[in-house]
Amino acid sequence: MEMSIGSKHVTVPLAERYRDRLSWTDATPIVSLGEGSTPLLPAPRLSKRLGLELWLKWEGANPTGSFKDRGMTVAVSKAVEEGATAVVCASTGNTAASAATYAARAGIPAVILQPAGAVARGKIAQAQAVGARLLEVQGPFEAALDAARELGRRGTHALVNSLNPYRLEGQKTAAFEIVEELDGAPDVLALPYGGGGNTRAYALGFDEAGAGLPPLLAGEASARAYTMATAIRIAEPAHRPEVEEAIARSGGSVVPLADEEILAAWRDLAELEGVFCEPSSAAGLAALRREPPKAGARVVCVITGHGLKDPEAAARLSTPPLPVPPDPDAIAEAAS
Ligand code: F0G
Repeated sequence: MEMSIGSKHVTVPLAERYRDRLSWTDATPIVSLGEGSTPLLPAPRLSKRLGLELWLKWEGANPTGSFKDRGMTVAVSKAVEEGATAVVCASTGNTAASAATYAARAGIPAVILQPAGAVARGKIAQAQAVGARLLEVQGPFEAALDAARELGRRGTHALVNSLNPYRLEGQKTAAFEIVEELDGAPDVLALPYGGGGNTRAYALGFDEAGAGLPPLLAGEASARAYTMATAIRIAEPAHRPEVEEAIARSGGSVVPLADEEILAAWRDLAELEGVFCEPSSAAGLAALRREPPKAGARVVCVITGHGLKDPEAAARLSTPPLPVPPDPDAIAEAAS
């Protein structure tokens, strides 16, 4: 049996679905785990509460559980094509899990620089399991990113942070999927804003899809440097000027959020819609609550990463299991 990507027995990855919109050449060895084509889920209970037609773009369904895989398939494929023998990234965790995984898939080593004490357990486990070298930088995310950029400049490692243009190229495909599935752009797109690469990528994608750029509502933690939403704990967004330009052009806004607002949105996504994401991923919904679009608007909220990434958050924020004896009466009583 033929085992190449594109064989009819293999899930169609974005590398294939959007082949003509990506920088592939005949020589690109495509490194894929079947990313993209994620569910666009209706959210009936939240829609009713908010008076909107709300859709959730469920990016936790990507191979490593976050949207980063869309960009990583392109960045790692191009790195290998260009002769890289190792990759490096700085990360609050999801880029790390994705870079480590795609490097393993490509058969090259990955070096991960993570801010000490600020990465959720699930993400560390993912990078460890696939054999990446994890280094805890004694400093914030920005210090780790500076070091990663320097290794990239020295040429020993290919930098696969979102400063790598192939990352944004892959991530823009989420906007293509939304436009195809809704038969046009939504009235509003809401998403979390950390370093800003993803906001830029959506703007690129909507521009390229030719259906118009919807107002972008980008939810950021108001306490950027300290938020409990560790994925977006980034004091200085690397893409700030481009994000501000795209948001202004779209007629949207950056929405600063208290941690309590992000957590309330996280809980509602899980309990009302059965969508268990990590806390940072709920920032788009929290932004929609803070700046509600007009009644009845068709809104897409991007849910960026899976809840299993951050099991401590789930344990801390929800009801723990109740021990019971193996007795049906006691169980029936405890269950009511
Ligand atoms: N949501 C999740 C789950 C993330 O991991 C990130 C960023 C964002 C949203 C924000 O996206 O940075 O493009 O604005 N995580 C990066 C990382 C910083 O290292 O994994 P952004």
